[in-house]
Amino acid sequence: MKVPLLDVNAQNLPLEEELTAAFTRVLHSGRFIMGPEVEALEAEVAEFVGARHGIGVTSGTDAILVALMALDIGPGDEVLCPAFTFFATAGCISRTGATPVFVDACPGCFNLDPDDAARKVTQRTKAIIPVHLFGQSAEMDAVMTLAREHNLHVIEDGAQAIGARYRGRGCGAMGDFGTYSFFPSKNLGGFGDGGMVVCNDDDLAERARILRMHGSKPKYFHREVGGNFRLDPLQAALLRVKLRRYGDYTRARQENAAYYTGKLSALPGVVVAPARCCCGDDREESPGEARVVLPTCCEHNEHIWNQFTLRVRGEGRRDALREHLGTHGIGCEIYYPLTMDQQECFTNLPERSRTGNETAHLLATEALSLPIYPELTREMQDHVVTVLEEFPGGD
Ligand SMILES: Cc1ncc(COP(=O)(O)O)c(C=O)c1O
Repeated sequence: MKVPLLDVNAQNLPLEEELTAAFTRVLHSGRFIMGPEVEALEAEVAEFVGARHGIGVTSGTDAILVALMALDIGPGDEVLCPAFTFFATAGCISRTGATPVFVDACPGCFNLDPDDAARKVTQRTKAIIPVHLFGQSAEMDAVMTLAREHNLHVIEDGAQAIGARYRGRGCGAMGDFGTYSFFPSKNLGGFGDGGMVVCNDDDLAERARILRMHGSKPKYFHREVGGNFRLDPLQAALLRVKLRRYGDYTRARQENAAYYTGKLSALPGVVVAPARCCCGDDREESPGEARVVLPTCCEHNEHIWNQFTLRVRGEGRRDALREHLGTHGIGCEIYYPLTMDQQECFTNLPERSRTGNETAHLLATEALSLPIYPELTREMQDHVVTVLEEFPGGD
């Protein structure tokens, strides 16, 4: 049996009629830049996550860039971001001319460790970008407290966490800005690139809107240098079809995660994330003999499971498991094989901004994500569990 890591057609093709109708609507409107479809999606997403403003942009990457630009982050500034994450967060900081300072990961939830962030604040630190990794919120109370103490801006990178919640609050709606991606593998996966910025401050939202349009207002009058960061109406119209079903997709991912957890935790040598967590959840330290550690959801979080990421312990074991799953037709992926401080493009950063990321380094050698998409069947999940159980050298 083949189990792909992701099957976008399984989600999109049943919507063919509605998606085609949305396409036809835009085609007949003759409006292909901005306009009512973009405005409607912006309003719907903002309401969904609990923010005042939504600003549709070209990608999740550009969403971060626009947010940084709107906060005047630039040369001479330092911005804290996770060492263990996708590149876009650090890349955008670097593109503004600011210096990314990499913060170590929490071994429990994989998110940025607020204690390490506090250790890395300097006089030049201007902002912090927590990433809600794999669909679970970072420890936002600690992040917001740190930001208040040091007068830092907060941009929440919610690319993997649209609709996730932290103590009842929507991920992305707690900081100065929240950013989302509609890349096809994201939980609200589009039909190409797309993204959104959300925020609660009227002035910041206006600034982001202006930056999205080459910094012009009115047209052809440029107060500052922005870019073309506009989301297409066609993309917006198609995404609106999927947003209406988003609750079902999330529920299915959560059920899939619970099913894996139930089945996999019964296998010898497999434990549910016993590592200590930065949120203070009182768990025992990981027993030395655990060969696979399952991901967990902190009590106060609503996890939306963009990824179901295992920690596979022992030198070379993660790569061996990846190969073992692959030979049995199971798709899996390493998110992420290198931490930000290990990236070649950042070797010229000051040593100080690249040190102290030991947990992130460990996760980069242990993390392996299994298929978790909503349309995964129980039969497919059972196959994954069986193949994992057969992984040699387990107990
Ligand atoms: C955490 C994170 N931030 C930012 C991005 C960038 O989003 P995009 O690919 O839409 O530019 C992604 C995804 O690709 C991501 O996973």
